[in-house]
Amino acid sequence: MHVNGETDTRAIYCAASVATMLQLKTDKLFERTPEYLARCQSWDGGFGPNPGAESHGGFTFTSLAALALINKTSVIPNLLSLVRWLCNRQKSVEGGFDGRANKLVDSCYNFWQGGSFPIVHGLLEQKHAPKNSWLCDSRALMDYTFLACQVKQKNSVAGGFADRPGSHRDYYHTCYALSGVAALQHVFSRHGQTTICPEPEAENCLSMINPLHNVRPIAVIDIYDYFAARADQSSSTE
Ligand code: FPP
Ligand code: ZN
Repeated sequence: MHVNGETDTRAIYCAASVATMLQLKTDKLFERTPEYLARCQSWDGGFGPNPGAESHGGFTFTSLAALALINKTSVIPNLLSLVRWLCNRQKSVEGGFDGRANKLVDSCYNFWQGGSFPIVHGLLEQKHAPKNSWLCDSRALMDYTFLACQVKQKNSVAGGFADRPGSHRDYYHTCYALSGVAALQHVFSRHGQTTICPEPEAENCLSMINPLHNVRPIAVIDIYDYFAARADQSSSTE
């Protein structure tokens, strides 16, 4: 991530996200990146921070989203084992995701695991993806998030989300708990769009996000358009 610092796929994802938004992607910038990311897929289907390392939701998202951003998802060695690993991360009792096998459910993985579902859904769509739902259970995730993780004070909602019941709320978990729910409340497919909201609490229906950037789609379009226009301008004045 910096000179003499940690090296892992978080930095690749950040570079791919920023370069995509700023229209700076070149073949040279991501030369050999797809091959490196492919080597991060572990034997169990998830991705680790480096080749040979343990699968983890954070690094599964950074690898998969980076590959999607640079249009190289075709290098994923085993897509179906990735899907199986992701599906196994949602726990049937709690409804939330864990970050890796045999660890505790945590609301920040709403996004780090949940954000990968729309991406794999797009890759599977032709043959295996359901039409109007994801391959995980959005309603169970919403129950975990809104009933178990939203912090209450004296029987009223105080606002803010914790990783799990009994923990303190913080901005990181509030952001990623909600981002993950937002990513999974709206299903897009070639069959159209379906919104899965909890009933009757319609106020818990969130705006959709673009899961590759964790930003609302309209903002992504505006950013892409703005920097595309600037790139056009500078190439016409060269
Ligand atoms: C394990 O912590 C967590 C990590 C080793 C890092 C996870 C990576 C991300 C969340 C991705 C971040 C992405 C960017 C772009 C900065 P732990 O052992 O405390 O948690 P666990 O028990 O849930 O695995
Ligand atoms: Zn967490």
